[in-house]
Amino acid sequence: MNSLIRPQTLHAFDFLGDVLGTQTVEGQQSSNFTEIVIYRNGGETHPVIVKCLLPVEIAALEGKQRFSRAQELVNMMGEFHTLLQQHEVVLAEPHKLYVSENGWPIYEATHYGDDYRVRIIRSPANAQTMIREILRCSSGVLHQSHPLTVGMDLRLSNFAKSPDGPVYVDTFPPLYSPDGGTTYHVHIPIPPTQAEVDAHIARKFNPCGSLRRLRFDLLSIDPELERLLMSEIRVGLQPDLHRTVVDFFQSIDRGGITTDTSIGDVVRAIEQTPPSDVDTLREICARWIPMGPDRIIRMDQVFYLARNAGPGDPRTPADPAERIAKLIDLLRGIAAD
Ligand SMILES: Nc1ncnc2c1ncn2[C@@H]1O[C@H](COP(=O)(O)OP(=O)(O)O)[C@@H](O)[C@H]1O
Ligand SMILES: [Mg+2]
Repeated sequence: MNSLIRPQTLHAFDFLGDVLGTQTVEGQQSSNFTEIVIYRNGGETHPVIVKCLLPVEIAALEGKQRFSRAQELVNMMGEFHTLLQQHEVVLAEPHKLYVSENGWPIYEATHYGDDYRVRIIRSPANAQTMIREILRCSSGVLHQSHPLTVGMDLRLSNFAKSPDGPVYVDTFPPLYSPDGGTTYHVHIPIPPTQAEVDAHIARKFNPCGSLRRLRFDLLSIDPELERLLMSEIRVGLQPDLHRTVVDFFQSIDRGGITTDTSIGDVVRAIEQTPPSDVDTLREICARWIPMGPDRIIRMDQVFYLARNAGPGDPRTPADPAERIAKLIDLLRGIAAD
């Protein structure tokens, strides 16, 4: 197991010892926000997924400070779960949320196998049903009343399939307002300016922004899937919201980009887009990059190069100018192919 774990993720050993003792580990991965280990309890049908929250930040804390920060994260996640459930979002069950003996904030739940991104790529013929399931799972949040109090990140990879239907698995960092719409947890750390907080709300709490994210994931796999999304939106959303979302999608400037647009025009379109307009950058790329065996890998690179992320993720340069330059390099490379 040693060799499978990247250096950045060595905390896993400590929290694993804390949580698991000597169970067999089946998988391991890490992101900016969590360190994930999957293990199997002898005899159980489904493995268990364990997420350690903010392992790097927690590792740097000691004693009381560490336990109180860990408890705070666990409490936030718990509040977010309650709000999601009040909006009829199904979560992975059973789950546990606690601070471990050595002060790690831990979430444990049933692991349901492949997520919806993997499942749609593997079985495109079932894509329409899967899109319907995702919309059904998110419907309560998409139709929430104002002020908006709960967000969801509608990426395909954030849904898995339990024997009873779709579940939403990505609940950290929590996306919610703890006080009914005055302040918002939109990211960790919370961005310093109200304008940045508002941008997060527009992208993950507002139904148009949330669905745009889902739409991007579908476009990344195959632009044809957009049609299926639009027809499922018509069936799955209430008429008012349906109209709002259709108008919103029609209002998004595509700049007329298609797979036939010249590389010069695509680069100009990218350069004319503010680096903070992540969604437009992604959309231009999704409409221009041709179908083919490399599309999914390339669109993954686009996702990370277009992202407005703080430092810490090796896939996303912190300097916006460098991000855009790398994105343009990627596109020129594709044009030269
Ligand atoms: N309960 C679960 N069942 C199946 N797969 C899961 C489950 N929880 C997480 N995953 C998988 O792990 C990936 C990462 O988990 P996620 O909570 O989305 O973290 P992040 O997106 O922050 O890395 C998901 O995209 C999904 O593939
Ligand atoms: Mg996720």
